[in-house]
Amino acid sequence: MVTSIENPTYDFPPYKSLDNGVLTERIQAVRAQLGPELMILGHHYQQDEVIALSDLRGDSYQLSQMAASSTDCRQIVFCGVHFMAETADILANRPEKLAERGGERIPVVLPDLAAGCSMADMAGIEQVEAAWDDLGDVIDTDDITPVTYINSAASLKAFCGRHGGIVCTSSNAAAVLEWAFARTKRVLFFPDQHLGRNTSLKMGMTNEQMPVWDPHDEDLGGNTEQALTDSKVILWKGHCSVHQMFRPEHVDQFRSKFPGIKVLVHPECPQEVNDLADLSGSTGYIIKEVQAAEPGTKWAIGTELHLVNRLKAEHPEQEIHFLSPVVCMCATMYRINLAHLCWSLENLAAGTPVNVIEVDPETAEWSLVALERMLQVK
Ligand code: 13P
Ligand code: SF4
Repeated sequence: MVTSIENPTYDFPPYKSLDNGVLTERIQAVRAQLGPELMILGHHYQQDEVIALSDLRGDSYQLSQMAASSTDCRQIVFCGVHFMAETADILANRPEKLAERGGERIPVVLPDLAAGCSMADMAGIEQVEAAWDDLGDVIDTDDITPVTYINSAASLKAFCGRHGGIVCTSSNAAAVLEWAFARTKRVLFFPDQHLGRNTSLKMGMTNEQMPVWDPHDEDLGGNTEQALTDSKVILWKGHCSVHQMFRPEHVDQFRSKFPGIKVLVHPECPQEVNDLADLSGSTGYIIKEVQAAEPGTKWAIGTELHLVNRLKAEHPEQEIHFLSPVVCMCATMYRINLAHLCWSLENLAAGTPVNVIEVDPETAEWSLVALERMLQVK
């Protein structure tokens, strides 16, 4: 269970009417007041004005590492989505860190509690537990490693911790799968079927070895016993609604219009797109590829719009296109704006924190087991 501490003097509307210049000044004032005790983390999909006020930015893996290694910091404001703030809470407040600080907890604040992730919501803990039980009727679950994408609730990470499993991000999924296959014959991968499939295909597995488990189909997730017995990776039927908008015809259109263009996508895109792309990787990887490219390089990039637009602005020496003709933006990441950031920061500075994400101790303990396994995988 996750609790949030609501401010009884919740007074959000006045912030909405303030313009960005005023909000920026007020946010800067809190940053100056709290100094290095405050760490504002920003995921690459955040709006430019939020990124400009973040102390550190990164992909999901980098942000987890930052939360895990923080030393001076006493307060974290996470400009990202709910599962990221939960992960930061678990890592920043793990037992050894609490002991170093004499028991002092670091509050992790998510400026808008409605900033969730629709993919993470596609796998509930009851559904995963039911799937595990059903799988146990057909195959030996001691021979399955559960792997959860970091884009999932803490309860799923805890499930992995309890069952010899692990967390992965889009930047380490292949290494994590190797870790899993060194231990068991099979993997149950949730919630993103596309990351699981694209990664496993690159490692030499075939689609026949990857049945899809539909949590809404009570009959073995829509699979035959044979398909499950023959499986290597059982993929959960979940997806990212943003990345699923990229289509193979978009790749074809760019290639015919701009010969030589490089197609660079996030592995949450469907297989048909991922297979056609020149390169695929996490948001951090996408940024590194563009930074390292020769001036004049042409790109069609398939990931969230705010990141692609920022890359365009930061790299005028290259020609960067957004891979889809329709706007693909993460509506929940977009909920974090300067008004919410200012509101949550001023409350933090006033000693009346709002929107604190605190994972309950038992869930945190088992999630940490799965997260630490991931952080140790090279
Ligand atoms: P990254 O780990 O690549 O930052 O991706 C997070 C995410 O939510 C992508 O949709
Ligand atoms: Fe979730 Fe997709 Fe948004 Fe990433 S882009 S946070 S996976 S909904």
